[in-house]
Formats: sequence, C-alpha cells, structure tokens
Amino acid sequence: MIMHITPLIDPARGPSGQRLVWLATGGDGRPLGTASLRVPAAGGVADLQLRVHPAERRAGVGTRLLEVATDAAADQGMRGLLTEPVRQGEEGDRFCMATGLRQVLTLTYTRLPLDGAKPTGASVPGYRLIHWDGTVPDELANTFARSRRAMDDMPMGDTDYAPQPWDVERLHAIADAVARRGEILCTTAAVAADGEIVGFTELVVPGDGRGDGQHYGTGVLPAHRGRGLARWMKAAQITRSRECFPDLAGLLADTADSNTAMRHVNDSLGYRTTHRSLLYQRDLTPAN
Ligand SMILES: CC(C)(COP(=O)(O)OP(=O)(O)OC[C@H]1O[C@@H](n2cnc3c(N)ncnc32)[C@H](O)[C@@H]1OP(=O)(O)O)[C@@H](O)C(=O)NCCC(=O)NCCS
Repeated sequence: MIMHITPLIDPARGPSGQRLVWLATGGDGRPLGTASLRVPAAGGVADLQLRVHPAERRAGVGTRLLEVATDAAADQGMRGLLTEPVRQGEEGDRFCMATGLRQVLTLTYTRLPLDGAKPTGASVPGYRLIHWDGTVPDELANTFARSRRAMDDMPMGDTDYAPQPWDVERLHAIADAVARRGEILCTTAAVAADGEIVGFTELVVPGDGRGDGQHYGTGVLPAHRGRGLARWMKAAQITRSRECFPDLAGLLADTADSNTAMRHVNDSLGYRTTHRSLLYQRDLTPAN
C-alpha cells in the first residue's frame, strides 16, 4: 500500500514535555491513522497512542506508525516507549504481541454502581478530611503538591515509569485540562494535625453529572500508611458523590494487579471487575 507519513505540529509544548503527532495517509490522500507520542522533558519513557481507521486495519498502517514513533523516541533519547492500556485479547493486544512489544503491566478495571452503595470507612483519629472541586485552593496548593509524591512508589510492574516532580504549576495544569474538557475534578484529602496534606483521592465527574465518574490517583504518604486513610478518603468521596451528583450512575477505577493495597480497598468498598487491560513497552537503547 502507498502510504505517506506527515508529522503534525502540536502547539501544546510545555515545560513538562512535548507531544509529537503523525498522520498516515494513503496514495489518494485519505487519512489512514495517527500516532501520538508524549515525550516527557525529564526523559524516561514516552507514551504512545496509536489509532488506525477501522476500514484501514490489517494493512500495515499500525506497524508503520509504530516504527516512526519508535525512531522519534530514540532520537529524543528516550529509554522506551509505553503503549496506552489495550484490552486483553482484543486487537490492540494482538498487535502489540505481533510487533514484539514487551508486556509490562496488567490493570484490572472495576466499577462501583452508586445506587445502593453504602461505603464504610471508619474515620482515623488525628486526621480530618477536606474536599474541593476544580483547582486546589491557594492556601492548600503547596502542601498538596508535597503530598503528590505519595504516588511515586505506586506499583508499575516492569514499566520504566519514572516519577515526575510535582509543583503547583503542574497541579494547575491538570485541573485546567479537566475543566477544559468540561469535567469536574473532585478531590478529597486527609490532613494531619500539623495542617499538612498526607493523602488524597481524586475523582473526575462528567460536566452534566450523569454517567460514570472516573477515579484518578489515590495516594497516602509512606509515614501515614496502614491506618485506614485510603479507605476513609474513598468512602467519603463515594458518599459525597452521591450527595453532590445524584444522577451519577457509577464510579470507575483501574488499578495495577500488583497494587494489592489499593485493590483490597476497592474490593472492600464494593467495586467489581469489568475487564482487564495490558500495557506494553518497547525498550530502546539510547544513542551514544
Ligand atoms: C491496534 C491497531 C493500531 C493496529 O493497526 P493496524 O494497522 O491494523 O495494524 P497492522 O496492520 O500493522 O498489524 C500488524 C500485525 O498485528 C496483528 N494484528 C493487528 N490487528 C489484529 C487483529 N484484529 N487480530 C489479530 N491480529 C491482529 C497481526 O499479526 C498483524 O499482522 P497481519 O495483518 O500480517 O497478520 C488498530 O487495530 C487500532 O487502531 N485499534 C484501536 C486502537 C488501539 O488498540 N490502539 C493501541 C495500539 S498500541
């Protein structure tokens, strides 16, 4: 098949990195598929997204786009290239196996139906919970940024995941991105007696308050683990979702299979498995 690859310009280049995008077109100019590569400024592993138009699949377009993205990641000095989650047994999974990528992480996807959910999570003495929607309030921004390193040691299987530093600017960028999509970022945080945020859990709710909400990160700083803070925060978040968004149907969470603690918390709160997905990596040898 005659195929052209055109690099597109992504204007969203920021301090945390850049995104490279390619469009594959046929000899007659018809679009076949796209690849996008997020290259973090801090180095490490680049995140790949690959889409081939359903009518153009099984003709080598995905393979070609993967080659282009691989070369670019190597040029940028990346150690590897990580796929988005692909559903176990489906075409993305088969494509990754066929192209020789290495399976590095298994994620279990779960859902909690909100009708009838009565979560129990006992309060933990010495801490209090706070909630906010959207951007973190200014007076909490610095302590919230410090608490984000609670996610740094989350189990990431065999991926070359490298934690990126957190600051207030990055917190604002995430909240702004959610708001631009018309969604609501709801955060519940645990505050210790000295006023420091020591744990948090985030939920993104569709702007109209209908359908399913999606959990983002949940983390507790190492010195405060093993006391029930994660369960308490999540139970409070579920209760609050029901109160604030009465039309919300359910909550979705995806958790690495190796993250025993988080899976246990979710299981005990009533989340049930819907499917599993896999992440694949291509390892690169940095050019000398
Ligand atoms: C995955 C995807 C990008 C593959 O694109 P594609 O252009 O069809 O891929 P290719 O034609 O280059 O396929 C290469 C090989 O992968 C395997 N493969 C791809 N799709 C497959 C399928 N549906 N069933 C079985 N094997 C498949 C085959 O071995 C294929 O070689 P073959 O056709 O000679 O047998 C495309 O199906 C897609 O866009 N899926 C939805 C998005 C997605 O899953 N993206 C994540 C990819 S990391």
